[in-house]
Amino acid sequence: MMIRHAVIERSVFLLLILTLITVAIGGLVEIVPLFTIETTIERVGGVRPYSPLELAGRDIYTREGCYLCHSQQIRPFRDEVERYGHYSLAAESMYDHPFQWGSERTGPDLARVGGKYSNEWHIAHMENPRDVVPESIMPGYSFLATRELDPNAITPHLRANRVVGVPYTDAMIAAGPADFRTQADPNADNTGLLKRYPGAMAVGSGAGVTELDALIAYLQVLGTEVKFRDVAPEALRQ
Ligand code: HEC
Repeated sequence: MMIRHAVIERSVFLLLILTLITVAIGGLVEIVPLFTIETTIERVGGVRPYSPLELAGRDIYTREGCYLCHSQQIRPFRDEVERYGHYSLAAESMYDHPFQWGSERTGPDLARVGGKYSNEWHIAHMENPRDVVPESIMPGYSFLATRELDPNAITPHLRANRVVGVPYTDAMIAAGPADFRTQADPNADNTGLLKRYPGAMAVGSGAGVTELDALIAYLQVLGTEVKFRDVAPEALRQ
Protein backbone atom coordinates (compact mmCIF):
# COMPACT_ATOMS: atom_id res chain seq x y z
CA MET A 1 0.00 0.00 0.00
CA MET A 2 2.75 2.44 1.05
CA ILE A 3 4.75 1.63 -2.06
CA ARG A 4 1.76 2.22 -4.35
CA HIS A 5 1.11 5.52 -2.61
CA ALA A 6 4.74 6.49 -3.10
CA VAL A 7 4.18 6.08 -6.86
CA ILE A 8 1.32 8.57 -6.73
CA GLU A 9 3.25 11.04 -4.64
CA ARG A 10 6.21 11.00 -6.96
CA SER A 11 4.21 11.72 -10.08
CA VAL A 12 2.86 15.26 -10.06
CA PHE A 13 0.34 14.61 -12.83
CA LEU A 14 -1.02 11.41 -11.35
CA LEU A 15 -1.36 13.12 -7.94
CA LEU A 16 -3.09 16.09 -9.57
CA ILE A 17 -5.58 13.96 -11.52
CA LEU A 18 -6.43 11.71 -8.57
CA THR A 19 -6.85 14.79 -6.33
CA LEU A 20 -9.22 16.36 -8.86
CA ILE A 21 -11.27 13.15 -9.06
CA THR A 22 -11.51 12.95 -5.25
CA VAL A 23 -12.56 16.62 -4.94
CA ALA A 24 -15.10 16.19 -7.78
CA ILE A 25 -16.73 13.23 -6.01
CA GLY A 26 -16.94 15.28 -2.80
CA GLY A 27 -18.46 18.20 -4.71
CA LEU A 28 -21.06 16.01 -6.44
CA VAL A 29 -22.14 14.47 -3.15
CA GLU A 30 -22.76 17.98 -1.81
CA ILE A 31 -24.34 19.56 -4.87
CA VAL A 32 -26.45 16.86 -6.58
CA PRO A 33 -29.02 16.49 -3.74
CA LEU A 34 -29.78 20.22 -4.10
CA PHE A 35 -31.13 19.65 -7.64
CA THR A 36 -33.78 17.28 -6.34
CA ILE A 37 -35.37 19.71 -3.87
CA GLU A 38 -37.41 22.52 -5.35
CA THR A 39 -36.09 25.20 -3.07
CA THR A 40 -34.09 25.47 0.12
CA ILE A 41 -36.46 28.16 1.40
CA GLU A 42 -39.56 26.93 3.18
CA ARG A 43 -42.68 28.67 1.87
CA VAL A 44 -44.53 30.78 4.40
CA GLY A 45 -48.01 32.22 3.86
CA GLY A 46 -48.30 35.97 3.38
CA VAL A 47 -44.88 36.63 1.85
CA ARG A 48 -45.41 38.60 -1.36
CA PRO A 49 -43.20 40.52 -3.81
CA TYR A 50 -42.66 44.21 -3.01
CA SER A 51 -45.15 46.68 -4.47
CA PRO A 52 -43.63 49.00 -7.11
CA LEU A 53 -43.33 51.88 -4.61
CA GLU A 54 -41.84 49.65 -1.90
CA LEU A 55 -39.35 48.32 -4.44
CA ALA A 56 -38.30 51.88 -5.35
CA GLY A 57 -37.95 52.66 -1.63
CA ARG A 58 -35.80 49.60 -1.19
CA ASP A 59 -33.45 50.95 -3.87
CA ILE A 60 -33.11 54.18 -1.92
CA TYR A 61 -32.43 52.20 1.25
CA THR A 62 -29.58 50.42 -0.57
CA ARG A 63 -28.32 53.56 -2.31
CA GLU A 64 -28.10 55.49 0.97
CA GLY A 65 -26.31 52.62 2.69
CA CYS A 66 -28.84 52.28 5.52
CA TYR A 67 -27.61 48.68 5.86
CA LEU A 68 -24.29 50.03 7.13
CA CYS A 69 -25.97 50.94 10.43
CA HIS A 70 -29.10 48.76 10.40
CA SER A 71 -29.43 44.99 10.17
CA GLN A 72 -32.58 43.28 8.94
CA GLN A 73 -32.27 39.95 10.62
CA ILE A 74 -33.64 39.08 14.03
CA ARG A 75 -31.71 36.16 15.46
CA PRO A 76 -33.51 33.42 17.42
CA PHE A 77 -32.26 34.58 20.81
CA ARG A 78 -34.52 35.63 23.65
CA ASP A 79 -33.12 39.16 24.01
CA GLU A 80 -33.56 39.83 20.28
CA VAL A 81 -37.04 38.33 20.08
CA GLU A 82 -38.21 40.34 23.10
CA ARG A 83 -36.85 43.54 21.64
CA TYR A 84 -37.69 43.22 17.95
CA GLY A 85 -40.36 40.51 17.66
CA HIS A 86 -40.44 37.05 16.09
CA TYR A 87 -37.06 35.96 14.73
CA SER A 88 -36.65 36.39 10.97
CA LEU A 89 -37.59 33.55 8.63
CA ALA A 90 -35.64 32.83 5.44
CA ALA A 91 -38.86 33.23 3.42
CA GLU A 92 -39.22 36.82 4.60
CA SER A 93 -36.24 37.92 2.51
CA MET A 94 -36.79 35.53 -0.42
CA TYR A 95 -37.72 38.42 -2.76
CA ASP A 96 -34.79 40.61 -1.70
CA HIS A 97 -32.20 41.03 -4.45
CA PRO A 98 -29.77 41.64 -2.85
CA PHE A 99 -30.83 40.84 0.72
CA GLN A 100 -30.35 43.54 3.36
CA TRP A 101 -29.45 41.37 6.37
CA GLY A 102 -26.45 43.55 7.19
CA SER A 103 -23.87 42.85 9.87
CA GLU A 104 -23.73 46.14 11.77
CA ARG A 105 -26.12 47.53 14.36
CA THR A 106 -25.19 51.12 15.04
CA GLY A 107 -28.95 51.62 14.95
CA PRO A 108 -31.64 49.04 15.80
CA ASP A 109 -32.61 46.09 13.63
CA LEU A 110 -35.28 47.09 11.10
CA ALA A 111 -36.59 43.65 10.06
CA ARG A 112 -39.94 44.34 11.82
CA VAL A 113 -40.09 48.12 11.87
CA GLY A 114 -43.18 48.10 9.59
CA GLY A 115 -46.23 49.50 11.38
CA LYS A 116 -44.21 50.36 14.52
CA TYR A 117 -44.47 54.11 13.83
CA SER A 118 -46.83 56.34 11.85
CA ASN A 119 -45.86 57.78 8.47
CA GLU A 120 -45.65 61.20 10.16
CA TRP A 121 -43.12 59.88 12.66
CA HIS A 122 -40.95 58.58 9.79
CA ILE A 123 -41.20 61.90 7.93
CA ALA A 124 -40.03 63.79 11.03
CA HIS A 125 -37.36 61.19 11.81
CA MET A 126 -35.90 61.22 8.30
CA GLU A 127 -35.95 65.04 8.20
CA ASN A 128 -33.96 65.25 11.45
CA PRO A 129 -33.77 62.18 13.73
CA ARG A 130 -33.05 64.34 16.80
CA ASP A 131 -36.48 65.97 16.54
CA VAL A 132 -38.07 62.69 17.66
CA VAL A 133 -35.18 60.85 19.35
CA PRO A 134 -33.02 63.52 21.07
CA GLU A 135 -30.02 61.22 21.67
CA SER A 136 -29.99 59.86 18.09
CA ILE A 137 -26.74 59.80 16.12
CA MET A 138 -28.48 58.91 12.84
CA PRO A 139 -27.86 61.42 10.01
CA GLY A 140 -30.80 63.37 8.59
CA TYR A 141 -32.03 62.65 5.06
CA SER A 142 -34.14 65.75 4.44
CA PHE A 143 -33.16 65.89 0.76
CA LEU A 144 -35.22 62.74 0.07
CA ALA A 145 -38.43 64.78 0.44
CA THR A 146 -37.37 67.15 -2.34
CA ARG A 147 -36.49 64.53 -4.96
CA GLU A 148 -39.33 63.31 -7.17
CA LEU A 149 -39.42 59.85 -8.67
CA ASP A 150 -40.57 58.94 -12.18
CA PRO A 151 -43.29 56.23 -11.93
CA ASN A 152 -42.33 54.83 -15.35
CA ALA A 153 -38.80 54.08 -14.16
CA ILE A 154 -40.13 51.17 -12.11
CA THR A 155 -41.15 49.00 -15.11
CA PRO A 156 -37.66 47.82 -16.14
CA HIS A 157 -36.87 47.27 -12.49
CA LEU A 158 -39.89 44.99 -12.02
CA ARG A 159 -38.85 43.09 -15.14
CA ALA A 160 -35.28 42.69 -13.88
CA ASN A 161 -36.60 41.31 -10.59
CA ARG A 162 -38.68 38.80 -12.52
CA VAL A 163 -35.56 37.61 -14.34
CA VAL A 164 -33.95 36.76 -10.98
CA GLY A 165 -37.02 34.85 -9.82
CA VAL A 166 -39.49 37.27 -8.23
CA PRO A 167 -42.95 36.16 -9.46
CA TYR A 168 -44.19 39.47 -10.91
CA THR A 169 -46.93 38.67 -13.43
CA ASP A 170 -47.46 40.51 -16.73
CA ALA A 171 -50.47 42.22 -15.14
CA MET A 172 -48.37 43.41 -12.20
CA ILE A 173 -45.71 44.80 -14.53
CA ALA A 174 -48.32 46.50 -16.77
CA ALA A 175 -49.94 48.12 -13.72
CA GLY A 176 -46.54 49.04 -12.22
CA PRO A 177 -46.49 52.84 -12.81
CA ALA A 178 -50.20 53.16 -11.87
CA ASP A 179 -49.73 51.15 -8.64
CA PHE A 180 -46.66 53.27 -7.93
CA ARG A 181 -48.73 56.48 -8.06
CA THR A 182 -51.73 54.98 -6.25
CA GLN A 183 -49.75 53.93 -3.18
CA ALA A 184 -48.37 57.47 -2.81
CA ASP A 185 -51.86 59.00 -2.91
CA PRO A 186 -54.01 58.36 0.19
CA ASN A 187 -57.15 59.47 -1.71
CA ALA A 188 -56.70 57.15 -4.69
CA ASP A 189 -58.79 54.01 -5.29
CA ASN A 190 -56.38 51.31 -4.14
CA THR A 191 -58.51 48.15 -4.62
CA GLY A 192 -56.34 46.87 -7.51
CA LEU A 193 -53.15 47.70 -5.64
CA LEU A 194 -54.27 45.83 -2.52
CA LYS A 195 -55.39 42.83 -4.55
CA ARG A 196 -51.95 42.59 -6.12
CA TYR A 197 -50.01 43.56 -2.98
CA PRO A 198 -52.04 42.87 0.18
CA GLY A 199 -51.25 45.26 3.02
CA ALA A 200 -49.48 47.88 0.85
CA MET A 201 -49.68 50.97 3.05
CA ALA A 202 -50.69 54.36 1.64
CA VAL A 203 -48.01 57.04 2.06
CA GLY A 204 -47.40 60.59 0.83
CA SER A 205 -49.87 63.35 0.04
CA GLY A 206 -50.85 62.61 -3.56
CA ALA A 207 -48.86 65.59 -4.87
CA GLY A 208 -46.08 63.84 -6.77
CA VAL A 209 -44.07 60.89 -5.52
CA THR A 210 -40.87 61.65 -3.63
CA GLU A 211 -37.99 59.39 -2.66
CA LEU A 212 -39.12 59.84 0.95
CA ASP A 213 -42.61 58.47 0.12
CA ALA A 214 -41.01 55.39 -1.46
CA LEU A 215 -38.61 54.84 1.44
CA ILE A 216 -41.44 55.07 3.99
CA ALA A 217 -43.59 52.65 1.97
CA TYR A 218 -40.66 50.23 2.14
CA LEU A 219 -40.03 50.71 5.88
CA GLN A 220 -43.73 50.22 6.62
CA VAL A 221 -43.91 46.79 4.95
CA LEU A 222 -40.82 45.37 6.66
CA GLY A 223 -41.70 42.32 8.72
CA THR A 224 -45.47 42.75 8.38
CA GLU A 225 -46.21 40.14 5.71
CA VAL A 226 -46.27 37.01 7.87
CA LYS A 227 -49.09 37.24 10.40
CA PHE A 228 -47.44 35.44 13.27
CA ARG A 229 -50.54 35.67 15.43
CA ASP A 230 -52.42 33.48 12.93
CA VAL A 231 -49.72 30.83 12.80
CA ALA A 232 -49.51 28.15 15.47
CA PRO A 233 -46.16 28.52 17.27
CA GLU A 234 -45.52 24.77 16.75
CA ALA A 235 -45.65 25.26 12.98
CA LEU A 236 -42.83 27.78 13.17
CA ARG A 237 -40.73 26.04 15.79
CA GLN A 238 -38.13 23.63 14.46
C1 HEC B 1 -24.73 56.32 11.17
C2 HEC B 1 -25.64 55.21 11.34
C3 HEC B 1 -27.03 55.28 10.74
C4 HEC B 1 -27.38 55.35 9.41
C5 HEC B 1 -26.46 55.50 8.21
C6 HEC B 1 -28.80 55.22 9.36
N1 HEC B 1 -29.31 55.07 10.61
FE1 HEC B 1 -31.27 54.79 11.11
N2 HEC B 1 -30.79 54.81 13.08
C7 HEC B 1 -29.52 54.94 13.60
C8 HEC B 1 -29.60 55.02 15.06
C9 HEC B 1 -28.42 55.18 16.00
C10 HEC B 1 -30.96 54.88 15.40
C11 HEC B 1 -31.60 54.90 16.82
C12 HEC B 1 -31.98 56.33 17.19
C13 HEC B 1 -33.09 56.86 16.35
O1 HEC B 1 -34.22 56.31 16.40
O2 HEC B 1 -32.86 57.82 15.59
C14 HEC B 1 -31.68 54.75 14.13
C15 HEC B 1 -33.06 54.56 14.03
C16 HEC B 1 -33.74 54.32 12.85
C17 HEC B 1 -35.15 53.99 12.77
C18 HEC B 1 -36.08 53.76 13.94
C19 HEC B 1 -35.97 52.32 14.37
C20 HEC B 1 -36.74 51.96 15.62
O3 HEC B 1 -37.13 50.79 15.73
O4 HEC B 1 -36.94 52.82 16.47
C21 HEC B 1 -35.46 53.87 11.45
C22 HEC B 1 -36.79 53.52 10.84
C23 HEC B 1 -34.24 54.15 10.70
N3 HEC B 1 -33.22 54.40 11.59
C24 HEC B 1 -34.15 54.13 9.32
C25 HEC B 1 -32.98 54.44 8.63
C26 HEC B 1 -32.93 54.54 7.18
C27 HEC B 1 -34.09 54.30 6.25
C28 HEC B 1 -31.65 54.87 6.87
C29 HEC B 1 -31.08 55.16 5.49
C30 HEC B 1 -31.74 56.22 4.74
C31 HEC B 1 -30.89 54.96 8.11
N4 HEC B 1 -31.74 54.69 9.15
C32 HEC B 1 -29.55 55.25 8.19
C33 HEC B 1 -28.34 55.00 12.87
C34 HEC B 1 -28.26 55.11 11.49
